[in-house]
Amino acid sequence: MSIDRSGKVLKSEGFVIRSGFIDLAGQKELVAALRDAVAVAPFFTPAMPRSGKPFSVRMTNFGPLGWVSDRDGGYRYQASHPDTCRPWPPIPESVMAIWRGVSGYPHPPEACLVNYYAAGTRMGLHQDRDEQDLAAPVVSISLGDTCLFRIGGTRRSDPTASLRLSSGDVAVLGGAARLAFHGIDRIYPGTSTVLGDWFPEGGRINLTLRRVTAPPDRAAVS
Ligand code: SIN
Ligand code: FE2
Repeated sequence: MSIDRSGKVLKSEGFVIRSGFIDLAGQKELVAALRDAVAVAPFFTPAMPRSGKPFSVRMTNFGPLGWVSDRDGGYRYQASHPDTCRPWPPIPESVMAIWRGVSGYPHPPEACLVNYYAAGTRMGLHQDRDEQDLAAPVVSISLGDTCLFRIGGTRRSDPTASLRLSSGDVAVLGGAARLAFHGIDRIYPGTSTVLGDWFPEGGRINLTLRRVTAPPDRAAVS
């Protein structure tokens, strides 16, 4: 991981931050679309495999496949919500448009993980490696309060860099950064009002878009 003089992590390594990619009006439209979809697929609290320790972050998903985790089943993708047992709602079109704009990947994402971070919550350093097609990047969209994001290399012991992600920023983890360890160290309360009366207490919503299965014509696009 290297950082240039303006503090941007170098693009050549496959990690790209598109600061302010979504303007304020776009952020508000996204929040409205998310709120409608979350009414169908409410937030749930995942738990760590084996220990059953609950995550501090709440989650839900949109799209054909959703990422879930619980004590007995571990990390996995499944087609239905663990509590309602209903299929996940579709990924909103405005979110699909962001994937098309930044991913550089010719197939649609299959999973849109929605994380809600209240003040005081965090996400430990981890790799996203439950997907079959690692040629597709992970696209991460930040809404609401600013967070401190940490990213390292492909080994847990590699050095890490920390940077703030604010509402409207889009991060792309592709290429060599696709399997980079990353996590959220903290949320800065009171830094955004974009979540409005959905979350009057504030907090941060992160969307992570991922291709899960290998597309049928994978050989042709690699
Ligand atoms: C994640 O790695 O699942 C979420 C990252 C983020 O919240 O920005
Ligand atoms: Fe992740």
